[in-house]
Amino acid sequence: MEVSRVELTNFRNYETAAVGMEPGFNLIVGSNGQGKTSLLEAVYCLSALGSHRAPTAGSMIRHGEERAFVRAKATGAGSGLDVDAEIVRGGGIKVWVNKQRIGKGARDRSLAAILFSPEDLDLIKGGPEQRRRFLDHAAARARPVTTTDRQEFDKALRQRNGVLKAARTNPRALKQLEVWTEQLASTGAAVVTNRLRALGQLLPEVKRRYVDLASAEPPELNYHASWADEQPEPDERAVAETLRQRMAETQARDLEAASTLAGPHRDDLVIELSGSAARLFASQGEQRSLALSLRLAERDVAARVFGEEPILLLDDVFSELDQNRRDRLGELVSTSGQTIATATSAESLPVKGGRTLMVEGGRLSEVG
Ligand SMILES: Nc1ncnc2c1ncn2[C@@H]1O[C@H](COP(=O)(O)OP(=O)(O)OP(=O)(O)O)[C@@H](O)[C@H]1O
Ligand SMILES: [Mg+2]
Repeated sequence: MEVSRVELTNFRNYETAAVGMEPGFNLIVGSNGQGKTSLLEAVYCLSALGSHRAPTAGSMIRHGEERAFVRAKATGAGSGLDVDAEIVRGGGIKVWVNKQRIGKGARDRSLAAILFSPEDLDLIKGGPEQRRRFLDHAAARARPVTTTDRQEFDKALRQRNGVLKAARTNPRALKQLEVWTEQLASTGAAVVTNRLRALGQLLPEVKRRYVDLASAEPPELNYHASWADEQPEPDERAVAETLRQRMAETQARDLEAASTLAGPHRDDLVIELSGSAARLFASQGEQRSLALSLRLAERDVAARVFGEEPILLLDDVFSELDQNRRDRLGELVSTSGQTIATATSAESLPVKGGRTLMVEGGRLSEVG
């Protein structure tokens, strides 16, 4: 997939801007605070139907304005794609693809893009929630129905925790516990199985990407289930059974804590380099390379699902990587699909050719 033109109106610090993109490598250069991330965010929001860095779409609207617009022309699977987005203050984001409105459930009909941003360091350094979400998103990209599994699990968990809380003052509430425990086990088993399948697809790609980028030993990735001693197999029935058993064992403690202590909501994806947890021991550059490998792997898997490579958006990726890793990444982006990357300066970037754009105060101009 490739985007050939992007137009912005009242988006972040852009009043109006229009820019053409090359099918291969595109570099956006500019000093801090000029609008580099905002341009990537604009492309990304057509794919994710939301921002990667703001909880509400309204943050993307230029201060003092009521609406923002993003338009893009792209080609996907050999045919043209006209994507229009309107963001209304307090009203979220609406997206049309070839004039047809699409909802979050039909995201796969819009632009396909994978974004690497500095915040992705949290995938490695942050809490387990980020990594669970990474797996859930990867699963949803391959099979959109898995989003429903996740929603049903979240509901069962809320209800079960509600019952555990209510049972403190009203023992009759306990009658409900069995129903929600069963719901939690069955929906939880679906969520866990989706994650394990996603991990199975991602794992070889993550290893390959990391080895390629870092010229080092591959990382290990293991799903740590808070409710089992070993990494479970992606077998929904077996997972449900183990979850059931575990919740029966911990029911007394759950009641005491008024919360479900073990389950898919407490699981983690443990990433190790040379046998040590990357979260605690890997260096800054290693963590960044790992986070990037996760995103690149996500793109590899998505490319198989869609039959073509999603657009790669790389925000400030070259900083903190040593020259070797920059070179490796440079080779990668010059040989695969479309990339839009940002940097504060074009110097020491290993990519030859492509288009370089300069951004200053929300104004874009072509450099060469
Ligand atoms: N809703 C908004 N309306 C107007 N300006 C905004 C809005 N949101 C952010 N900005 C401003 O837009 C400018 C560009 O932000 P952006 O994050 O795109 O910068 P950047 O070029 O990526 O900088 P850096 O190199 O520091 O990452 C910043 O000065 C920011 O304060
Ligand atoms: Mg930025």
